[in-house]
Amino acid sequence: MNRTSKRYVALRALAGLALLAIPGCASLLARAPLVTPELAMVAATRGIDAAAAARGRDLYVGACARCHGPVAVRSRTPAQWREILPRMADKTQLEAAATRDLSAYLSLMEAGGPDAR
Ligand code: HEC
Repeated sequence: MNRTSKRYVALRALAGLALLAIPGCASLLARAPLVTPELAMVAATRGIDAAAAARGRDLYVGACARCHGPVAVRSRTPAQWREILPRMADKTQLEAAATRDLSAYLSLMEAGGPDAR
């Protein structure tokens, strides 16, 4: 194999990796939508602290995803979340303030997140 074709193979491999990364990214956003400026406006009308919700989203895709990856927020009902969150906050050893941030995020997703029911 000459140098040019080796470079071509390397580029193809890189392109393949990039293609793998794109759906991964899309599914993260679908599972745990960002607190966009639009959602921050929804938060304001519902008395939810948008900054807290944004911190909650960081925790959701960070500390919370350590063991099992980010579970799709909307795969559980608000009633289920009320039971799950304290249990998982305990597993994550979250402080009360961090748990409140996560609650704010979940409330915002319930109120106005994509596919809001
Ligand atoms: C130390 C590991 C660990 C961490 C950190 C963790 N989880 Fe879990 N999670 C688990 C395990 C194990 C299960 C499955 C058993 C269970 O439900 O307790 C689970 C289950 C779940 C489920 C499904 C539960 C159900 O009954 O449907 C959700 C949703 C979830 N976790 C969300 C979270 C969130 C949100 C956080 C952050 C606050 C978090 N997890 C942090 C280990 C973890």
